[in-house]
Amino acid sequence: MPNIVLVGAQWGDEGKGKIIDVLAEESDVVVRFQGGNNAGHTVKVGDDKYVLHLIPSGILHPGKHCVIGNGVVIDPVALVSELDELKQKGVDPDGRFHISDRAHVVFPYHGLLDLTRESNLHKGKKLGTTKRGIGPSYSDKAARVGLRMGDLIDPQFDELLMPRITEANKVLQAMGADPVDAGQLLAAYRTAAQELAPFVSDTISFLGEACRTKKSILFEGAQGTMLDIDFGTYPYVTSSNGTAGGACTGSGVPPHRIDQVLGVIKAYTTRVGEGPFPTELTDEVGQTLAKVGNEFGATTGRPRRCGWFDAVVARYAAMVNGIDFWAMTKLDVMDSLQTIKICVAYECDGKRYNTVPANIRVYERCRPVYEEMPGWQCPTTAVTTLKDLPPKARAYVDRLCEITGVKLGILSVGPKRSSTMRVAV
Ligand code: IMP
Repeated sequence: MPNIVLVGAQWGDEGKGKIIDVLAEESDVVVRFQGGNNAGHTVKVGDDKYVLHLIPSGILHPGKHCVIGNGVVIDPVALVSELDELKQKGVDPDGRFHISDRAHVVFPYHGLLDLTRESNLHKGKKLGTTKRGIGPSYSDKAARVGLRMGDLIDPQFDELLMPRITEANKVLQAMGADPVDAGQLLAAYRTAAQELAPFVSDTISFLGEACRTKKSILFEGAQGTMLDIDFGTYPYVTSSNGTAGGACTGSGVPPHRIDQVLGVIKAYTTRVGEGPFPTELTDEVGQTLAKVGNEFGATTGRPRRCGWFDAVVARYAAMVNGIDFWAMTKLDVMDSLQTIKICVAYECDGKRYNTVPANIRVYERCRPVYEEMPGWQCPTTAVTTLKDLPPKARAYVDRLCEITGVKLGILSVGPKRSSTMRVAV
């Protein structure tokens, strides 16, 4: 298989976990390159359900190597419990799970800063973060005061951390929050460090060697293009680059080693947390999508906001990521709808927008311009080839590909591995 970067083309939760799981079978190495345990990938294997937050879902395939790259931020305590859960279910990570010594560490004070900042923001200005400390951890990285996984397992860890705790506590107290208990923190992190030490290594060299020996690498993006810190709906974004370029900076694999970019996209749109969402539906159709699609966040359990497919977002994602193919998911969730709308452009103050405006105040006021198609109103979950799709469902999928200018690579019509049609990837 070629080296594929898989990215979310909307606001996250596009069903990336399942597609990665399907492709991992044919890859040698699966790499996570950004984000932290704000992500949640749900994978169904037979009757078993796995929710992974930090570990690449490739771990579910025996023998595959899985890497947490340098671009990821890691809560070591959360990672240990994720590993333990996998081990209890019979998954063996030994010798094939690799954590970058350059990946930054998330500390409890990051979580508290995240929480306090959010609660101090006025209603309407809140970001709706997962409160996992992701933003504050990346802030420390950019401010060059963060600690990395290599530091966590270093004998001098306590000395490195103490000044960080002292400073964070001053900030927390100034914000009206309680300080963290240094003793408790150190004890918990020392224990986690012991558990994780065997997996921490120079993943840059490991991946360099994988490239040299022509191993196939699958890059697993978390979140989505519209949550990317540069290209998303800033400030209603996460703090990393979940777009294709992030795969290189977050792993150490050079751009010319990327062969293909696969964009995962739902047949409709969802968003968790705050921020503009032009095609959001607050009516019965929105409720149907939420209910049938089981649209609840895998990490926080929050209900996802649902809306029509937004081709402006999809075209923009295709451009920013250089998407070669769509992996379209959850078409079956729309089976019962009588009429379906597709957003083809926005309008704001009498001006038409064919792409995503940078100014968030403009974006918040953008209204969707829709075209309509008839629904197919019959089940699609058992369909296994494109030609067996109901003609109206096929017409909908074809139209989405046409107006976004991207070919269909994979079509998913249900949560199981078996409900996945491989068209071109
Ligand atoms: P943070 O990443 O926790 O800082 O949250 C920033 C924004 O990104 C919030 O709107 C979150 O709901 C959203 N977000 C973060 N991770 C995910 C994800 O994996 N799926 C969907 N939304 C996410």
